[in-house]
Amino acid sequence: MRVLDLTISRRSVRRFRPNDVSLNDIAYILEVARRAPSGANRQPWRFLVIQDHEIKRHIRRICEEIEKEFHQRAEPSLKRWMHARGITWKKPFLTEAPILILVFGRIGEPYWIESTWLAIGFMLLAIQELGYSTLTYTPSKTDWANHLLEIPKQYRLQVILPIGKSAESIQSQDRLPLEEIAYLNKWGESLRVESP
Ligand SMILES: Cc1cc2nc3c(=O)[nH]c(=O)nc-3n(C[C@H](O)[C@H](O)[C@H](O)COP(=O)(O)O)c2cc1C
Repeated sequence: MRVLDLTISRRSVRRFRPNDVSLNDIAYILEVARRAPSGANRQPWRFLVIQDHEIKRHIRRICEEIEKEFHQRAEPSLKRWMHARGITWKKPFLTEAPILILVFGRIGEPYWIESTWLAIGFMLLAIQELGYSTLTYTPSKTDWANHLLEIPKQYRLQVILPIGKSAESIQSQDRLPLEEIAYLNKWGESLRVESP
């Protein structure tokens, strides 16, 4: 599938079916991730794959506590945006998805956050290519992961990717048109091309 088609068909998914995800497929996703470019090629990313249900339960319990707090103090406009999409403090995907991939970045490496997120972007496309769905879930606090999972303190959790088959009817989110976000030679000047 063309990269454009993968990006068109990809959507964030927050409910998952219990169908298994093979570790071979996870290895494929991580192979794609490790090809990402990184600042000074330091490859600051690390991946922890969680298949164990008890660990997923612990992660969900902690994240839901954090989210309750986050939802209480969220800006009203963000609250409305989340409410319209049914996003609450409840995070069922953390136990429903057969696999969670926790992505960590090594603090202090050159462009460690940017590089880690590039690898995450690559992963989203690989997940889509294999016919799975995911969500870039970013808990508002991350220290708990180092304690719970015995992660060295120089690594910080960037995202949790639940991976599995979607149990949702996909909701399309609008994107800004190209004329509004990309310019030729001068800010505000349209590229004036046919859509690719
Ligand atoms: C950096 C980043 C952080 C995000 N964090 C969350 C999150 O914590 N919880 C959540 O439900 N969605 C999260 N999302 C998903 C976005 O809400 C979603 O990508 C956006 O609404 C566009 O929808 P789509 O992915 O279906 O195209 C995040 C997305 C990105 C890129």
